[in-house]
Amino acid sequence: MTHSFDVIIIGAGAAGLMCAIEAGKRERKVWLIDHSVKIAEKIRISGGGRCNFTNLHTQPQCYLSQNPHFCKSALRRYTPQDFIALVRKHGITFHEKKLGQLFCDDSAKQIIAMLLAEAREAGVKLENPVQVSTIETIAGGYRLNTSQGERTCTSLVIATGGLSIPKIGATPFGYQVAKQFGLNIIPPRPALVPLVFDGALLACCQALSGLSVEADVRFGKQVFAEGLLFTHRGLSGPSILQISSYWEEGEPIVINLAPGTDVLAFLKEQKQSQPKLHINNALAEILPRRLAQSICDEHNGSGPLASLSDTRLAALASAVNAWHVKPVGTEGYRTAEVTRGGVDTRELSSQTMEANKQPRLFFIGEVVDVTGHLGGFNFQWAWSSGYVAGQYV
Ligand code: FDA
Repeated sequence: MTHSFDVIIIGAGAAGLMCAIEAGKRERKVWLIDHSVKIAEKIRISGGGRCNFTNLHTQPQCYLSQNPHFCKSALRRYTPQDFIALVRKHGITFHEKKLGQLFCDDSAKQIIAMLLAEAREAGVKLENPVQVSTIETIAGGYRLNTSQGERTCTSLVIATGGLSIPKIGATPFGYQVAKQFGLNIIPPRPALVPLVFDGALLACCQALSGLSVEADVRFGKQVFAEGLLFTHRGLSGPSILQISSYWEEGEPIVINLAPGTDVLAFLKEQKQSQPKLHINNALAEILPRRLAQSICDEHNGSGPLASLSDTRLAALASAVNAWHVKPVGTEGYRTAEVTRGGVDTRELSSQTMEANKQPRLFFIGEVVDVTGHLGGFNFQWAWSSGYVAGQYV
């Protein structure tokens, strides 16, 4: 039976575009479709409009998944250097901001233009907006009912991403397709997302809203040392976004607001050398003044150091070095950068991204249960998983 296309890819985001380019280069007849009027919106808004398109230090440890080995093969076969070569080929200039994070010097739109140019050159037929209402298996492939009519294909690729930022087109479509074909889903939840608090903690965050400090944030064995930002709803900033991907509801996280300083030793030393120094002023030597004052208020710490027992100093020091806070939740998909969970990797081949029990059905990108840390790792997963599927579809 002749099909309308060799490959239909649903979702023209990062992973879908990469897969389409690679399949097109192999002379496969590719139809890349998206339900949105504007495609690749997440690339456009990423990295504050400059797209943190990869990370030089990409390694499997930078990803969360029920199977931490799953991402290895794809990441090895399409590396950050491969994507950098593509970016260079298109004359896009970029810089390392910090920690191996590569950003465009100018605009994320350059990455979209690059991918669209590559897709055009590879002969990919891109159409949007196109809605898919049903998918069914037929001899040697799939039949889709779409807003453009019925189309058939040999290979079907699901690249519809996760649930974050519904207002720019995120849908649970990929999970629904997985369910239709009996594939297990690891329950999705918002990740790389600000944490929210209530009661006294919320009041404290609100009073300090806008203030940022360098902090170590810990949940279990996982620690991130990056910026922390107080907000009117709770805590945000890179260290909090990172830990949010690991945090389990009902559990506390532990924050060191003065990493590298043993605050108890510091306060005892100050008590010796400057006994008349007030505790808020002593803490203000290692913390922003507003934060120092807030910690003193919260823990009834006032007066000169000489008047405070070592036990009291220890309590104040621990509020700085090991602040235990229990979030009540996250800001949810409205602001989450990614979705944790997704199509269970045990259902897929790590070599090809094809479903083990459903021949020629592929899942790539964020819809799969592979979630990167903050810093360009999620796009690298989209490029790598899209690339490998593109070699087999
Ligand atoms: P992606 O979401 O890119 O694409 C999915 C596509 O499928 C969309 O075009 C959507 O319209 C389409 N679609 C959805 N449902 C459909 C349906 N029912 N029918 C048809 N089409 C459908 N990562 C990173 O590495 N560096 C960064 O700087 C950032 N910055 C960043 C900022 C913000 C604000 C967000 C929200 C996210 C990031 N990310 C990021 C994460 C990154 O954007 C994300 O992991 C990738 O875009 C995932 O690529 P996918 O192709 O899997 O999905």
